[in-house]
Amino acid sequence: MAIRLIAFDLYGTVLDYGALVETLRAYSPMPEAALDAWRQRQLQLCNAAAMPGRYVDFDRVTLQALTEIAPRFHMKPSPEDLKRLIDAWAQLPAFPDARAGFEAAERRWLSPIVLTNAVASTARNALVHAGLASHVKHVISADTVKSYKPKPVVYHQVAALGVEPAEVLFVSGNDWDCTGARQAGFQTLWVARRRSLTFKPERKIETLLELETVLRDLELSHR
Ligand code: LAC
Repeated sequence: MAIRLIAFDLYGTVLDYGALVETLRAYSPMPEAALDAWRQRQLQLCNAAAMPGRYVDFDRVTLQALTEIAPRFHMKPSPEDLKRLIDAWAQLPAFPDARAGFEAAERRWLSPIVLTNAVASTARNALVHAGLASHVKHVISADTVKSYKPKPVVYHQVAALGVEPAEVLFVSGNDWDCTGARQAGFQTLWVARRRSLTFKPERKIETLLELETVLRDLELSHR
């Protein structure tokens, strides 16, 4: 089916949470390992919170994950430190190729959206901070349905924009997110920003600079 909507994941696709290593350096002697553990725990807590009746929002999940992993990495953050570290998720830099990705979508008359586990206001603040807000027509948040990707209910919110799942190209740097989107009926494109040993992507690019070519090929294949 022809693509009518491009939906981007936020963290790890458009925004580079790897920049938090520099923020964590002030708090831990092992900032890289601390960030890996923080992100992993954040995603685990999302999976737990996706169960009916267990939902807590992504800002709180992110805070809980940090509080839990902190002792292992010799971190003793004060309440102000915790606030600063959580706020940092709304102040991340864009990946250098992110703008080109949005522009490639716009050149084909496909207004891009962001589909994220983040709370919508946090996501919007982060896009404003990264200078990308003007490219994003809608932010669809997991918070609206009180569940989390990779649950299909989160992706299926695109119905409100009048598109079928099969008309969406979902772009994510998170392999599990592409898998969830595909199960929800989307077409998927993995941005291989991190290694993934077992994941078999439907489509793969190294950076969003290649999105233009993917869109052209998809368009040709539907003529
Ligand atoms: C997002 C995170 C989970 O949805 O990557 O933005």
